[in-house]
Amino acid sequence: MEQQYRPTYVKIQLNHILHNYRLFMNTESSRIFFCPMVKANAYGHHDIKVASALVKADCKILGVGLVEEGVHLRQADLLSPEILVFGFSGKDAVQEMNSRRLTPVVSGWEQLEDIRAHAQPGTKVHIKINSGMNRLGFLPTDISRLEIFFNNNKAIQIVGCCTHLMTSEDLNLSCGASAHQMQVFSEIVKRPLFAHTVLHAFNTGAAVHLQNDSALARQFPYGLRIGLGLYGYSTVATDFSRKLYPAMSFISRIVTVQKVKQGKSVSYGGTWTASRDSMIGIVPAGYADGIPTQLSNHGSVMIESQSVPIIGRVCMDYTLVDVTDIPNALNKEVEFFGTQNPADQVAGKAATITYDILTRVSERVPRIFKED
Ligand SMILES: Cc1ncc(COP(=O)(O)O)c(C=O)c1O
Repeated sequence: MEQQYRPTYVKIQLNHILHNYRLFMNTESSRIFFCPMVKANAYGHHDIKVASALVKADCKILGVGLVEEGVHLRQADLLSPEILVFGFSGKDAVQEMNSRRLTPVVSGWEQLEDIRAHAQPGTKVHIKINSGMNRLGFLPTDISRLEIFFNNNKAIQIVGCCTHLMTSEDLNLSCGASAHQMQVFSEIVKRPLFAHTVLHAFNTGAAVHLQNDSALARQFPYGLRIGLGLYGYSTVATDFSRKLYPAMSFISRIVTVQKVKQGKSVSYGGTWTASRDSMIGIVPAGYADGIPTQLSNHGSVMIESQSVPIIGRVCMDYTLVDVTDIPNALNKEVEFFGTQNPADQVAGKAATITYDILTRVSERVPRIFKED
């Protein structure tokens, strides 16, 4: 890593990721299929570091969103795991995928035709079913044509079939959107075309429900693709989700303290005015680092286990916090989010989602890894 002059970094606890991985590994559904998702730079946690740690822990399959992400992992010598590429990829990507042994999750006819054009004996694919999310995937009405296609193209082997839930949080409800999607998917996978394939459907929100309810897990015997949970969060709160450990903490320090008289305003636009003589801590991390501007006058940071309000507008390189009640604040450590200030709560304050908070941490913020 290049020399860092700014006391701002994210701490990544790889041991927490492994703890979360093992929790999911211990579930019934993971025995069917288990694909940790390391797309989007492992949700901001550093794909190569995370993938290497998982492979060392005997992980056999990884999921990425882009062909480029799969190539990046292969170039880093991650040669043993199967890598599934979930995103849509055009015809230029097919040969690259063949030569890098990346397995496409095919979600449309054009993509399938492109694969056929370059198919070699042993070319493997997973087929994605659009069971109701209406983003990617083949429709139930496509299945007969798919049967004909695969009958005529024996070089291409279907090894997996999957779907993705639009509202996995409601999997425990008998008449929710997930129940409807499961009905569609369960019918489709009865077709002989999918008789010898692995079946997978569940992200973190769904997996957390399945872990809580073994009857549900038996009713829907499909495997897991876990992203958010691997990094310590869940969109559903259960006893199981409370055992997950957040892996990323965004840390900085108070680099200077300004005395501001009552009635004076701070930061761009002067959106915060001191109601008393105040001490303002300046923290060298801003929206260019991934701190949401929506936290302006709205969010808080943790300093020595105390919640301290963010005041004024978050700037590109700086965030201002009111440290009037923190004695000797200069140089004290600040946690924007992490083990003390969970990213899902920060997301709530910023009117966004945990995924966004984790993946928006920009490249200029160094990642520091803790393994134990
Ligand atoms: C197809 C697919 N499967 C699984 C996941 C993992 O979801 P989660 O991070 O909620 O576990 C994603 C994430 O967006 C996805 O797109």
